[in-house]
Amino acid sequence: MAIPESFLDELVARTDIVELVGGYVRLIKRSGSNMFGLCPFHSEKTPSFSVSSDKQIYHCFGCQKGGGAINFVMEIENLEFRDAVEFLAKRAGMTMPDEGAPDEFLHKRRRMLELNRDAARYFHETLLSPSGESARKYLAKRGISQKMVTRFGLGAAPDAWSGLLDAMSGYTKQELIDAGLARRGKKEGGAYDMFRNRLIFPVIDVRGGVIGFSGRALGDNEPKYLNSPDTLVFNKSRNLFALNIAKKSKSGMLILAEGNIDVVALHQAGFDCAVAALGTALTEDQVRLMARYTESAVIAFDADEAGKKAALRAIGLFEKTKLGVKVLDFGEAKDPDEFLQKSGADAFSLLLERSENHIEYRLMTIKNNADLGSDEGRLKYIYAATELLSELASEPEREIYGAQVAKTAGISPESVENEVKKMRKTKRARQRKQYEKRVTRPAAAMQPADRSLRYENEYSAAAEEGVIRCLMRDLELLRICEDMNFGSEEFTSPLLAKVYEVLSMRESRGREPTEGLILSGFPANEASQLTVILQKPEATPHSEKSIRDYIEKIRAEKYKSDAPDEKLLLAIKKYREMKDVGG
Ligand code: GTP
Ligand code: MN
Repeated sequence: MAIPESFLDELVARTDIVELVGGYVRLIKRSGSNMFGLCPFHSEKTPSFSVSSDKQIYHCFGCQKGGGAINFVMEIENLEFRDAVEFLAKRAGMTMPDEGAPDEFLHKRRRMLELNRDAARYFHETLLSPSGESARKYLAKRGISQKMVTRFGLGAAPDAWSGLLDAMSGYTKQELIDAGLARRGKKEGGAYDMFRNRLIFPVIDVRGGVIGFSGRALGDNEPKYLNSPDTLVFNKSRNLFALNIAKKSKSGMLILAEGNIDVVALHQAGFDCAVAALGTALTEDQVRLMARYTESAVIAFDADEAGKKAALRAIGLFEKTKLGVKVLDFGEAKDPDEFLQKSGADAFSLLLERSENHIEYRLMTIKNNADLGSDEGRLKYIYAATELLSELASEPEREIYGAQVAKTAGISPESVENEVKKMRKTKRARQRKQYEKRVTRPAAAMQPADRSLRYENEYSAAAEEGVIRCLMRDLELLRICEDMNFGSEEFTSPLLAKVYEVLSMRESRGREPTEGLILSGFPANEASQLTVILQKPEATPHSEKSIRDYIEKIRAEKYKSDAPDEKLLLAIKKYREMKDVGG
């Protein structure tokens, strides 16, 4: 059922976007009526995310995302239009128009979280029961204490096909399948437990909801780990194992390990700030999530080649944020768990204190990969190392690490310095060129970032955008369009034509346009593109004259670009005549 326009009008009127966004992003006033902050949709160090309180829209100059209050909620809470409206309605103290009908989506989510909680309880009880014996033995073998079992709510899946299914009698088979806890069997209507004969790690999000599970094999059987699939409540790339506990740590850092066992072992040794990704490579979302809770990340990945590679990749992700990052080197031990077993917690603390920052780590990796015995190898090393140094913004850092590189390569610090300078110069020149290209080809710069929205005729599109901007500012200007016999079919951009139609419709129903609301009717990529358009400054404040000029420009482009269109020619002629008569 569609939500009535009047309801949306009221909702948007009652929602202050600055306040809404302020709940997620720290906003500071910089100029005029715009507030700025760090964009919640991409990683950045300097604020390029702006919120306009008079237009009630947001726009990121970095990633180009934008829209109104409803778009923002859809994007940041990952909700469908309807759920975003409900979310805002709740916030504004408004009752949804068709109150009474349960909301399918929210209801399903709630049920799934309840099911997961009940399942976690079942696994935990199983671990303590006779059928949990093999799992208990495994925990003992790994040296995991009862205290950790309780803290993490660890559990056991019994060696049976329907242990959980039988226990969850309050839920349907389909609900267990949807939650990733059961699988459909070959037999019609049949299902069997997803987790069997495994040690169970519940995954709990920062709000305390049980969102999924990891199950480790109790021996060498494959696969070693089985993880819940993504579900209505579980998104592997946006959550971290144990963050629910680590977020409360007083240590001022987050230690990122690879394995669940490593995390538990770290907590047991007193490092209550350890977390892990959920069986996939680290994502930008996870890095941003970490950045919400700490300013300093420590990478404690496995010591093997795969772990080293993953560490370098993770460093790259952390560098995009304000997070400081260090990498631990376990030497002979294969992972944090083994290191703790062999050397103990105090040794780990020392490792933390002495851990090198990521620049040293990267230089070390470059060095380890180079054959410094040969001239060719040394040249390669110098090239890769100076390339890295040239990326450093801080001069003292460049100097200190430059000296290290010089020593390793057996050349003078001055030659390293010269090499870095040369490289920085080349890089700057390249950037300048790219910038100039953008500035000297304004028409090309007009093109939306999203390729699916590319304009067919950039020059016409510029004018079409102008028409929309004028109308957004003052819907009365539609009179001019009507006077000029201008219609949506004259737009070359389908998106802008659609906006024009929405605006005309609103005008005919006597409703003012509010940018934030108009934008909410469009999908995210289109809303973002429209926000960019609305943010562009208007060259002439004379809106009546501007809109006329724009329409004439659109028509001139049309005239240039194709064979005369009968209808259009007629319209132009009619307009000319009228203008002549009118003076
Ligand atoms: P051990 O120390 O070997 O007991 O395990 P661990 O907990 O340290 O895990 P490991 O370092 O082997 O793997 C790191 C992470 O990768 C695990 O926590 C899992 O999330 C994931 N992973 C490992 N093996 C598998 C697998 O077979 N399948 C899936 N889907 N994920 C796995
Ligand atoms: Mn391990």
